[in-house]
Amino acid sequence: MTTTAHQVCINADCGASFALDEVVFKCGRCGSLRDIAYDWDRVEVPGDLKFFESRWGSRGRTPSAKLDFSGVWRFRELLPFADPADMVTLGEGRTILQQADSLGRELGLKAGCLFLQYEGLNPSGSFKDNGMAAAATMALKLGYRRLACASTGNTSASMALYAAAASAPDRPMQAIVFVGSGKIAFGKLSQALDYGALTLQVDGDFDDCMARVQQAAERLDLYLMNSMNPYRLEGQKTIMYRVLEGLDWEVPDWIIVPGGNLGNSSAFGKAWMELLHLGLVSKVPRLAIINAAGANTLCALFNDHELRWNEGRISAGVSSDYYKSLDASNYKARTVASAIEIARPVNLSKALRALHVTDGVVREVDDQTILDHKALVGKYGFGCEPASAAGVAGLRLLLEEKIIDPDQRVVCILTGHQLKDPNATVDYHVGGEDSKSDKPRPHSNTPIKVADNIDAICRALESQM
Ligand code: F0G
Repeated sequence: MTTTAHQVCINADCGASFALDEVVFKCGRCGSLRDIAYDWDRVEVPGDLKFFESRWGSRGRTPSAKLDFSGVWRFRELLPFADPADMVTLGEGRTILQQADSLGRELGLKAGCLFLQYEGLNPSGSFKDNGMAAAATMALKLGYRRLACASTGNTSASMALYAAAASAPDRPMQAIVFVGSGKIAFGKLSQALDYGALTLQVDGDFDDCMARVQQAAERLDLYLMNSMNPYRLEGQKTIMYRVLEGLDWEVPDWIIVPGGNLGNSSAFGKAWMELLHLGLVSKVPRLAIINAAGANTLCALFNDHELRWNEGRISAGVSSDYYKSLDASNYKARTVASAIEIARPVNLSKALRALHVTDGVVREVDDQTILDHKALVGKYGFGCEPASAAGVAGLRLLLEEKIIDPDQRVVCILTGHQLKDPNATVDYHVGGEDSKSDKPRPHSNTPIKVADNIDAICRALESQM
């Protein structure tokens, strides 16, 4: 185990330090989240980020070629907690940053200003694989045979895939997933089942599952793979490195990301803090975290209650009072973007730090706006699941508010693949009597019903051409 890294409590009044292989996901002293911290003076970090490009083309079966092929481990010097021999990879992170001028123009950005980072191209179809490669590495290193998570779907799909891949006939690795009843998108549930995960459909929502899985992990000694596991965030930092690479190492003005459990936002903040510390960038982008209006805890706490990072001294009373008020009104998060249907984000404090470091903003968008923007992302040639489109909808809002200027360079992270949630897509486009919604759908692309008759078919086609 590397000695250049350790775990540290992020609470400035505590700052307790723990060995890398100590398995408690909250600080044993004060209950705050932990970071993986590095002794950078003892790590050989390349002096120029361009170094990492040279690894892109690696192929073959040698151990180092396999690591170079991974969009996570290609950057291993920037997350140096494991020995290369232990690094788990399925070729995650070979994702692309694409310039999206048509969509940008539709939203009000100038040409060359909008970029989409397509994390749906990961092996399990979402950004989670970045973090899972890192956390699975640690799980194997620690000798765990049972991995557990609560999930709105993508975490479970990703964890189940990595567990299946890490299993050997004489050394099975069991994936145990807790999903809320009824809300998980079918594409994601099908993955967890297909990859052989032991799947518990808990009679509750994601927040209930998150509480239960922590208790179960403690009682049954399961390795918790949710994003409160700090190794997950180490892997997810690499999304920012690949964005930079896609922009020829020029820092964009904005990164926009949907916020659920706030793991991604937290990882992005840490990535920029470290790049700045290492002198590998001279400035950082602003971060915009977009909540669904039906799951807007961060937005409410940050904008209405003015909760801030406060140099690591976050006012705990503000969030606990807020959660008490949610309980008192029996509030449950509700949004069509089921991936981010979360009322109690476990990474809240780290996300506040990310907002501090990047001078970030938080907004919320309603379900109809999310679906309209999802349709636009599809129409202009990408496609994503509803949660990912929340970021794009947030971009429109921030342009309208003149917080983002039309000539600024903006990167939206498309977190999950279009095929994850086909029901949401078909419901939007088919509409009519088959739809659960009677709202207008300005970008719908409804199939045309036609008789099995060539004249009728041609008439129908001609009317649309
Ligand atoms: N987008 C997608 C597609 C997601 O699956 C998630 C989270 C998010 C955005 C939000 O990311 O939690 O880092 O703020 N999905 C988790 C899951 C909660 O269980 O799959 P976050």
